[in-house]
Order: sequence, then structure tokens, then C-alpha cells
Amino acid sequence: MLKVLKLSVIVIFLLDIAGLAPVARTYIEPSFKAVDGDVMYQWHRTDNETEWEDFTVKYQGRDYCRDCHPDQYDRITASKHALIQCENCHGPATSHPMDPLKLVIDQRRELCLRCHSYLPYRPAEYAELSTGPIPFKMKDPEEHNPGIECANCHDVHNAGFKAF
Ligand code: HEC
Ligand code: HEC
Ligand code: HEC
Ligand code: HEC
Repeated sequence: MLKVLKLSVIVIFLLDIAGLAPVARTYIEPSFKAVDGDVMYQWHRTDNETEWEDFTVKYQGRDYCRDCHPDQYDRITASKHALIQCENCHGPATSHPMDPLKLVIDQRRELCLRCHSYLPYRPAEYAELSTGPIPFKMKDPEEHNPGIECANCHDVHNAGFKAF
């Protein structure tokens, strides 16, 4: 009984401290307040809002690429790779092409195997197909043309084959 009583006193004490922490912080950091009087969800540093507004956006999204790379854009949006964002493979555009930052062209097998690799520990019925909402084809890297870059034979933007 005494134990339970002691415990509840400690719990109440801790809850009190937790409740006072935001109030104490407003003294240390004046921009920290409950915005719009919402003490439930809106305790934050208002300075933080301007910091996020100034934050450099790294990923631009596919529409940003369209005007300058219409060929790749048109082909990929008509292909089985239509769902995949350019920057998923080429890295964040940030301010490309304005700065010297070159976007990556990664021709290594690893780029593709990140999604297409066959996982030996998965149940046999899934070995050739991914699970999830889009069942797509898996390849065993040991079996499927080892040692040659996938992009040598496959047209990535078409999700198909290169014409030889
Ligand atoms: C305002 C025009 C413009 C936009 C927007 C743009 N690019 Fe580029 N991109 C260029 C130019 C110019 C080059 C340099 C061309 C060269 O080196 O042959 C380039 C080069 C590249 C390269 C390297 C090509 C190579 O052969 O080395 C890749 C990959 C690339 N862009 C992808 C993208 C992606 C992905 C996006 C969208 C997130 C994008 N670009 C948006 C103009 C643009
Ligand atoms: C699934 C990964 C992947 C996606 C998604 C992707 N690319 Fe590529 N991209 C590559 C690879 C790999 C190469 C090199 C192709 C080769 O060597 O045949 C490449 C090459 C390029 C090049 C160099 C010229 C060329 O066509 O070979 C440009 C420019 C480019 N991509 C732009 C884009 C743009 C713009 C998008 C989106 C509309 C995009 N890529 C989407 C993987 C991708
Ligand atoms: C981010 C994940 C991702 C990456 C990276 C990726 N793919 Fe895919 N790929 C997919 C998905 C998802 C599909 C199937 C989409 C569908 O069927 O609707 C697909 C489809 C394909 C297809 C068509 C298969 C068919 O069923 O006809 C080929 C070929 C292919 N990818 C090759 C490549 C190659 C080569 C690379 C590397 C240069 C690559 N992919 C990188 C996700 C990816
Ligand atoms: C030497 C050329 C070559 C290389 C390298 C190669 N492939 Fe293939 N790929 C093929 C051929 C040919 C087929 C169709 C026959 C088959 O399924 O094996 C194919 C089929 C596929 C398919 C199924 C496409 C469909 O239409 O059913 C996917 C997905 C695929 N490859 C992904 C990859 C990935 C990922 C890599 C790199 C790890 C890769 N390939 C490397 C030639 C190649």
C-alpha cells in the first residue's frame, strides 16, 4: 500500500515537472511559445518556422526536369519505371544545373539490384517477383548475366532493352 502511494507521489511529481518544462523554456528561449494559444500541440520555437523556410530544398521532383530533359521524361513516364522519380537514381538535384554540381549517372549493377535483387531467404513463390502493391521482377545477380552492367543491355528509361 505504502509502496503504491510512494510511487503515485513520484509520478505526480514527474508529471508536474513535465508540465512546467515548456513554461520554463519560454524564459530561457523567448521565441518558444504555444502558438495560437494551443497548449496541446503548438509548443515550438517560432524562430524555427523561419529556419525551415530558409532550408535548401534538395529534391525537386520530376516536373522540374521535364523542360530540359524531355526525352528521358517522355520515355520514362510511358514505361514500367513511370513511378520512379528521376532523383531516386540520379540523386538530389538541389540547384542543378545552376551550380557545378553534376548529377550522377550510376551505371553499376548495384543501382538496379537495390530494387530488383532476388533475395535468397524469401519463400520460393516470391523468388521471381517482389511482394508489395506492385509485383515486379527480381533477378538473381549470380545467375543473370553476372559481371556486366545492367545498363549495357537494358534501356533504363524505357524499362526495356537497348536496340543493338
Ligand atoms: C534548366 C535546365 C535543366 C533542368 C531543370 C535539369 N537539367 Fe539536368 N542537365 C542540364 C544541363 C545543361 C546539363 C549538362 C549537359 C551535359 O553535360 O551534357 C545537365 C546534365 C544532367 C545529367 C548528366 C548528363 C550527362 O550526360 O552527364 C543528368 C543525369 C541530369 N542532368 C539529370 C537531371 C534531372 C534528374 C533533373 C531533374 C531533377 C534535371 N537534370 C534538371 C539542364 C537541366
Ligand atoms: C531507374 C533509375 C533511373 C531513373 C528513374 C532515371 N534514370 Fe536517367 N539514367 C539512369 C542510368 C542507369 C543512366 C545511364 C544509362 C546508360 O548508360 O545507358 C541514365 C542516364 C541519364 C541521362 C544521360 C543521357 C542518357 O539518356 O543516357 C540523363 C540526362 C538522364 N538519365 C536523365 C533522367 C531524367 C530527367 C529522369 C526522370 C525523367 C531519369 N533520368 C530517370 C538511371 C535512371
Ligand atoms: C527504385 C526501384 C527500382 C530501381 C532502382 C530500378 N527498377 Fe526496374 N523496375 C522497378 C519496378 C517497380 C518495375 C515494375 C513496374 C511495373 O511492372 O509496373 C520495374 C521494371 C523493370 C523492367 C521491366 C520488367 C518487366 O516486367 O517487363 C526492367 C527491364 C527493369 N525494371 C530494369 C531495371 C534496370 C536495368 C535498372 C537499373 C539501371 C532498374 N530497373 C532499376 C523498380 C526499380
Ligand atoms: C548481357 C545482357 C544483360 C545484362 C547485363 C542484364 N540483363 Fe536483364 N535481361 C536480359 C535479357 C536478354 C532478358 C530477357 C530474358 C531473361 O529474362 O533472362 C532480361 C530480362 C530482365 C528482366 C525481366 C524483363 C522482362 O521483360 O521480363 C529484368 C527485370 C532484368 N533483366 C533486370 C536486369 C538487371 C537488374 C540487371 C543487372 C543486375 C540485368 N538485367 C542485366 C539481358 C541482360
